[in-house]
Amino acid sequence: MALADADVADLPRTRAITNNLEAYWMPFTANRQFKKAPRLLVRAKDMYYWAADGHKVLDGAAGLWCVNAGHARPKISEAVANQVKELDYAPAFQMGHPKSFELASRLVTYMPRGIDHVFFTNSGSESVETALKIAFAYQRARGEGSRVRLIGRERGYHGVNFGGMSVGGMVANRKQFGTLLSGVDHIRHTHDLARNAFTRGQPEQGAELADDLERLVALHDASTIAAVIVEPVAGSAGVYVPPKGYLERLRAICDKHGILLIFDEVITGFGRLGAPFAVDYFGVVPDIVTTAKGLTNGVIPMGAVFVKQEIHDAFMTGPENLIELFHGYTYSGNPVACAAGIATLETYEEEGLLTRGAELAPYWEDALHSLKGLPLVIDVRNIGLVGAIELEPVAGSPTKRAYSTFVQGFEKGILMRTTGDTIALSPPLIIQKSEIDLLVDTLRGILKTLQ
Ligand SMILES: Cc1ncc(COP(=O)(O)O)c(C=O)c1O
Repeated sequence: MALADADVADLPRTRAITNNLEAYWMPFTANRQFKKAPRLLVRAKDMYYWAADGHKVLDGAAGLWCVNAGHARPKISEAVANQVKELDYAPAFQMGHPKSFELASRLVTYMPRGIDHVFFTNSGSESVETALKIAFAYQRARGEGSRVRLIGRERGYHGVNFGGMSVGGMVANRKQFGTLLSGVDHIRHTHDLARNAFTRGQPEQGAELADDLERLVALHDASTIAAVIVEPVAGSAGVYVPPKGYLERLRAICDKHGILLIFDEVITGFGRLGAPFAVDYFGVVPDIVTTAKGLTNGVIPMGAVFVKQEIHDAFMTGPENLIELFHGYTYSGNPVACAAGIATLETYEEEGLLTRGAELAPYWEDALHSLKGLPLVIDVRNIGLVGAIELEPVAGSPTKRAYSTFVQGFEKGILMRTTGDTIALSPPLIIQKSEIDLLVDTLRGILKTLQ
């Protein structure tokens, strides 16, 4: 495109920078609507945000499911500040620095024996891409190169990069972006209001939905399938708690057919369910675990992919001077992110946060289920310190009702997350019972006014 004379005269750009809302194209946001009535956060401490107009907002969403230890925790802030001064960046390829090894060594202690290796990324989306690539490369390394298919699940969310989008199962996240990866199929989702509405914890009905994987094996043949990826508890699509026995059955079917099982623990990792990981909570051990979010308490972008020893070892053959996996990011194991990760783990340990959710879960469950019976509430779901309230959609305007609840919530001082017509709640793990009451009572007040 040719520049107009006026633009050329303006090079280099000399215009004063106008600090308005226009330049920033916001992610997953209705930009035009937002910019007409912005919601800006300017400060945060522990359980609270402060908005630009000064009003205080209880964080019912741990930011975006990531601030598990609460905001502005001193140990983490200091670790980050010190690390920036001491070693701000070190090249990630063919070079190292001590903190990435330290963080990896600490992280593997949270996994069952046999999951002994960690690959660092910068987000949940990158963790997913990394896991999918490792799955393909591993199958090839062990002589099963015909395993070129990936299986996800309807309503799954695995981030926004091409692999994650492809195995993901949220139509709005897929339909704008071409044909995605080829060779991907999806098992059925587990959401079943007819049988399981208002279940507390894991639903009784639905373990047999795991058998849908057998349908895809029958269709494609196991010899073409590299891996299955699921969120142990689906988060972003609306908090779907796995039916009792479902994950166990999925594990058994994967074992039967030599298919890798990947748990995407980007949300469930780091204490969200009241156990350090969903792996502990459900007692089901996958082959690869993807994480991010709570790894650094949301302070610095970072993700980690945990891999079984035998997968890692399959790459450690051949001449030692050759790179084993042609994959990595400029910021893999970034020193500042590692410092944040180490300080975050220490904070979790010192305060018992990785299991605190289990103590609070019964109170949380009762509080959420007290919303049952309100006219437009069609389901309440919960597990650990996660909850969802599903609303009857406005006819012809899906998402409208939940979105208006979210906006009113922000004005009345509670931050929630909505997806479709579901309100998702996942507060920092430091929440007090009185704050659970405040969150749920404020929400109740809003729900009572809904049209
Ligand atoms: C299960 C799961 N996987 C992947 C992602 C993507 O993470 P990110 O937004 O850090 O790329 C998310 C984000 O919510 C997630 O919930």
